[in-house]
Amino acid sequence: MGKNNITIILAPLQGFTDVTYRNVFSDHFSGVDEAIAPFISTMGQMRLKPSRIKDVAPENNKKLFVVPQILGNIAGDFIFLADHLYDMGHKKVNWNLGCPHSKIAKKKRGSGLLMYPEKIDAFLDTVLSKISNTLSIKLRLGRKSKNEIFNLLPILDKYPLDEIILHPRTGIQMYEGTSDHDAFGKALYSSRHNFTYNGDITDLNSFLLVQKKFPHIKRFMIGRGILSNPFLAERIKGIGQNKDKIERLKIFHDDLFNNYKTIFSGPGHLTGRMKGFWSYLGPSFKESKKGLKKILKATSTHKYQYVVEEFFNTDYKFIE
Ligand SMILES: Cc1cc2nc3c(=O)[nH]c(=O)nc-3n(C[C@H](O)[C@H](O)[C@H](O)COP(=O)(O)O)c2cc1C
Repeated sequence: MGKNNITIILAPLQGFTDVTYRNVFSDHFSGVDEAIAPFISTMGQMRLKPSRIKDVAPENNKKLFVVPQILGNIAGDFIFLADHLYDMGHKKVNWNLGCPHSKIAKKKRGSGLLMYPEKIDAFLDTVLSKISNTLSIKLRLGRKSKNEIFNLLPILDKYPLDEIILHPRTGIQMYEGTSDHDAFGKALYSSRHNFTYNGDITDLNSFLLVQKKFPHIKRFMIGRGILSNPFLAERIKGIGQNKDKIERLKIFHDDLFNNYKTIFSGPGHLTGRMKGFWSYLGPSFKESKKGLKKILKATSTHKYQYVVEEFFNTDYKFIE
């Protein structure tokens, strides 16, 4: 928790906030209290993808409390996976009703299910009577319209839920436009459940704005804002750090790189993963476009390391 009794939760970001990132991040930065892991898809009964399960294995997740997230719409498959996670030690699971990608939504998964409140009702009726874990839901306002949520909230009120994590955009909006604070407020006051706010907290001011608008909200989920500025949770909580920021970022980067080096076999995979982080982190360095371009163009591991070194040695100013 910390300052103002607020909890900061690292958002699930598929391809970014995996167990390696979560552990390395926790070694270098504070202020983040919990994380939801990137989604694990249901695969049909009796089938599990070992790499996805490994990502949430409690023995690998001792540094940051993690809640596994499940993506799926078939009650039996969900129960099978949730039971497996329970046996591993996960008392809580999260259901993904927010994924905006059309390939997933077309199959009535993620935000694609939000247009079918009766299916969500039937799903929860079956699942919640069978699983041993408690359940939270992460969702958007709707698939196509921001009003869809108002047909769903009375249904969700019937069930015990840990919390509702709401990212106030529609699915088809993807990440366009801004998070709709008015719609978040309306949803918050139309539900009996506890809410966590998620969306576009990118700096101290955007956090303070949300906090001012919703003083009862104590739990905030942040995704891209932390990738862009790993100091953000410390800043929000007023955790002072005297050490040089660029030096801290460099040490963090090197640690992340070395950890991924042990995981990814091909250089393309390794640099590809690291470049993903740079696409968020890089623009936080003032006037660094040229240096960032070199990193994003690096094809070999050797070249990548060389241009990253050069980047950190250039006197770019880190903007929070
Ligand atoms: C690359 C990427 C991957 C994501 N993966 C997931 C995911 O696995 N599960 C999920 O619920 N949301 C996922 N999201 C959505 C984020 O968790 C979050 O809701 C969204 O980015 C808004 O929060 P932010 O503005 O703080 O980033 C993803 C978003 C991005 C950009």
